[in-house]
Amino acid sequence: MRWVVTGAGGLLAPDVVRAVRRADPTAEAVPLRRADLDVQDARRAREVLAGADVVVNCAAWTAVDLAESDEAAAHAVNADGAGTLARAAAAAGARLVHLSTDYVFDGGTEGSAAVRRPHRVDDPTGPVSAYGRTKLAGEQAVRAAGGDALVVRTAWLYGAAGGCFPRTVLRLARERGELSVVDDQWGSPTWTADVARVVVELVAARAPAGTYHATATGRTTWCTFARDVMDSAGLTDVPVRAVTSAQFPTAARRPEFSVLDTEGLRRVGVEPPADWRARWALAAPEVLEAAGAPAAGSLR
Ligand SMILES: NC(=O)c1ccc[n+]([C@@H]2O[C@H](COP(=O)([O-])OP(=O)(O)OC[C@H]3O[C@@H](n4cnc5c(N)ncnc54)[C@H](OP(=O)(O)O)[C@@H]3O)[C@@H](O)[C@H]2O)c1
Repeated sequence: MRWVVTGAGGLLAPDVVRAVRRADPTAEAVPLRRADLDVQDARRAREVLAGADVVVNCAAWTAVDLAESDEAAAHAVNADGAGTLARAAAAAGARLVHLSTDYVFDGGTEGSAAVRRPHRVDDPTGPVSAYGRTKLAGEQAVRAAGGDALVVRTAWLYGAAGGCFPRTVLRLARERGELSVVDDQWGSPTWTADVARVVVELVAARAPAGTYHATATGRTTWCTFARDVMDSAGLTDVPVRAVTSAQFPTAARRPEFSVLDTEGLRRVGVEPPADWRARWALAAPEVLEAAGAPAAGSLR
């Protein structure tokens, strides 16, 4: 099997490459950075996808706030680029796994977070940010390309390979000695290694084309997650102050509630990632070490 993974310079793709190789040491997994393949380049996409069996599209514009002031540039990658890649994958007869996001949902305002139910794959979408709109357009472009495609929505990713929330929290804790973190946005912090496993298992299970949700289960807020990160790093004396989204304005609006229902995975024989807190406990040593915090308590 020949796998091609785009966006290889980012957070998720390196774990996808690792998971492919771990699941099948005879498989060929080709990581493509932007310099190897710009997903907006149709001719190059057809060249590099020739002979591929599976294409995993991790390439994306993920600067959520910046997308508000340059939606056209985000759209060019997240929507046009996704469509271009999907058409090239279809032409090559390859299966496409396209990564998408919880931010395609509006995050509803009915009821408290405690009683809201996780978003199902077929719930109505309604992005509240430019990034979310471009990612939704990407999903539509992938489906319109007519190939064999799985759209895998994930959320709140952290991992060892790149920029992510735990890394930012550690940096700010070092710089400022205290943190203010929003406590009214709910989601499921998700380890890139878990999403990578799901991607590989969906393909191995020959899951029907369609949309799947791949996040850890359970729910929390950014503030609670930040406190867990501080605990894992042994920084229990760094105050973490809970603030509201209104007190912490950002260019992009974020959904209040972006918990995803992952039961669809089970229906095709793939185990959803476990509870977010248990997964963070397992991931923390690797993620913290990559962030320059090799052992709990050694930051100062
Ligand atoms: N991170 C999260 O919390 C999160 C949450 C939900 C969904 N997702 C989705 O998960 C997927 C992977 O995200 P990630 O966190 O790994 O993102 P990431 O770290 O930002 O990596 C994305 C990669 O795509 C590359 N890229 C940008 N434009 C490109 C283009 N035109 N052609 C080829 N490559 C291009 C970037 O290269 P440069 O570095 O050169 O720009 C970067 O290396 C994305 O679809 C994202 O929307 C992520």
